[in-house]
Amino acid sequence: INIAVFASGTGTNFMALYQHIRETKVPIKIACLICDQPNAPVVTKADELGIPVWTHRLREFEDKVSYEKAILRELKKYNLALIILAGYMKIVTKVLLEAYPHAILNIHPALLPSFPGRHGIEDAFEYGVKITGVTIHWIDGGIDTGPIIAQQPVPVLQGDDVEHLAQRIHQVEHDLYFRSICQVLKQRKLIN
Ligand code: GRF
Repeated sequence: INIAVFASGTGTNFMALYQHIRETKVPIKIACLICDQPNAPVVTKADELGIPVWTHRLREFEDKVSYEKAILRELKKYNLALIILAGYMKIVTKVLLEAYPHAILNIHPALLPSFPGRHGIEDAFEYGVKITGVTIHWIDGGIDTGPIIAQQPVPVLQGDDVEHLAQRIHQVEHDLYFRSICQVLKQRKLIN
C-alpha cells in the first residue's frame, strides 16, 4: 500500500511514521515525500532513507494551480492509497482534493475545532486550557477543518511551559498518526 507524505519542516512525524512501518512490518510504503521547502530537514531525512523526494517552492510556479498540478504529476507515478500531511504548511486546494477525494489526512497539534492555524500548541497554552491534544482529520480545503478521524487529549500540567507541553503533544502525534492511518486502511480492507 503506497502513501505519500507532505511535509515542510523538521519531519519528526515523517520519521515516526517510517519507523512504525518498519517495526510493525505493516505493508505500507512511503512512496514519496512532497516538500515545499527544499532546505527543510525532512528532505535530508527522506534522502538518507532513499525515499523519492519532490521538492519545489511555490514561487517557482506561476500560481498555486500549476504548483499543485506539478505535484499531481509526481503523485500519479505511484498508486497512492492515502496522502499524509505532516507539518505541510500550505493549504491544499481543489486540484489535489479532487484528484484524491477522501484520501488526504492532516494532523493538528490541538483539539480541533479549537486552536486551528500554525500555532495550535502556543495558542492553547496561552488561552490557559487545562486539556489540549492532537487531532487527525480529513482535509476539506479550509485551515485545519474537515471530518475528524481521531483525537487524543494531552493535559496541561501545573507549572507547564510551552516547550514541555509541545514535547508531550509531539509524542502523542507520533503514535496517533500511525494508528489512525492503519485504522483507515483497515476500514478500507487494504491491510489486515
Ligand atoms: C506537527 O506538530 C503537526 O501537528 C503540525 O506541524 C508539526 C510538524 O512537525 N501540523 P514535524 O515536522 O513532523 O516535526
